[in-house]
Amino acid sequence: MTTLFDPIQAGDIALSNRIAMAPLTRNRAPGGVPTAAMAEYYGQRASAGLIIAEASQISPMAQGYLDTPGIHSPEQVAAWRQVTAAVHAKGGRIVLQLWHVGRISHSSLLPGGAAPVSPTAVAAKAHTFTAEGFVPVSTPRALGDDEIPALLEDYRRAARNAIEAGFDGVEVHGANTYLLEQFLRDSVNDRSGPYGGPIENRARLLLEVVRTVAAEIGAGRTGLRLSPTTTFGGSAPVDSQAQALYGYVVQQVALLGLAYLHVIEGETGGARQPEGAPAFDYAALRRAFPGTWIVNNGFSRSEALEAVASGATDVVAFGRPFIANPDLVRRLREDAPLNPLRADKLYGGGAEGYTDYPTLDAVAA
Ligand code: PHB
Repeated sequence: MTTLFDPIQAGDIALSNRIAMAPLTRNRAPGGVPTAAMAEYYGQRASAGLIIAEASQISPMAQGYLDTPGIHSPEQVAAWRQVTAAVHAKGGRIVLQLWHVGRISHSSLLPGGAAPVSPTAVAAKAHTFTAEGFVPVSTPRALGDDEIPALLEDYRRAARNAIEAGFDGVEVHGANTYLLEQFLRDSVNDRSGPYGGPIENRARLLLEVVRTVAAEIGAGRTGLRLSPTTTFGGSAPVDSQAQALYGYVVQQVALLGLAYLHVIEGETGGARQPEGAPAFDYAALRRAFPGTWIVNNGFSRSEALEAVASGATDVVAFGRPFIANPDLVRRLREDAPLNPLRADKLYGGGAEGYTDYPTLDAVAA
């Protein structure tokens, strides 16, 4: 019987176990440049079968929060090398999540105070974090269809940069109400033309991005993250035909030979079965995808053991438990207690609540 602690091959990437570290925004990259502290943090967590490093903007226009890292400048590429080297030195595997926030941004974070770009010119009901603290997001400008090639080029270059920075691959961020999901959903996408209207059109940008990245670095080094029913408090209500929409997306990417598909079940960071939310058949998506399947969202140890043993998933990604437990893999294996999360230290700041969570060995010493 397969267990959570058995190795698995995800495309070209060999994982030593089936426990992934989910991508987690920490806002500790001043000016978008990764730091030595980030190398220490990820190196501490290298026993994960796969680290999916935090969402990183593919261009200056792709940023939506203060001090998130980028993967578009030579300085950023050089700085990420210390991160990938720290993880590889301990035998770990690490991919980078490629991020464009779309309309979830504020002009103060964007070049020349520009308006964020999105499929729509309608503002999200959402807030973001800037130098001035939490503020409502800015009203976006609708991207022209003629701007899509430059956007694809940004994704292509970011993927190439990630490989040059030493990452084992990338994860296209198609989740959590950001740009690609804004295009996917009829609750946000109000376009006509090739990128609006029917499901095939709303999925077009996501599929073009995935194909562009896979063509650049290889499908076996390309993963994709989706969150079919996440709304982030109404920032992007669930699509009116969510099952058909995501069924189509998965059917299309199933042909590509991707490293993995990573699916958030339910409301990101919240319930997997939110009360009153329409039922969604995640298992149907999994049956349609022949590659490695990663599931995420609040799995307990016993749920994760069961999900892998039953074959419901290949890999389980853990978010908050990995923040608080650098040796989470060992703790899960030994059924050891977990450190509590210091939730007030999640976003921004220094070592506290970042690199100072103790391992079991440190506690014993
Ligand atoms: C966030 O910064 O709040 C954030 C970033 C990426 C996500 C979700 C949330 O996928």
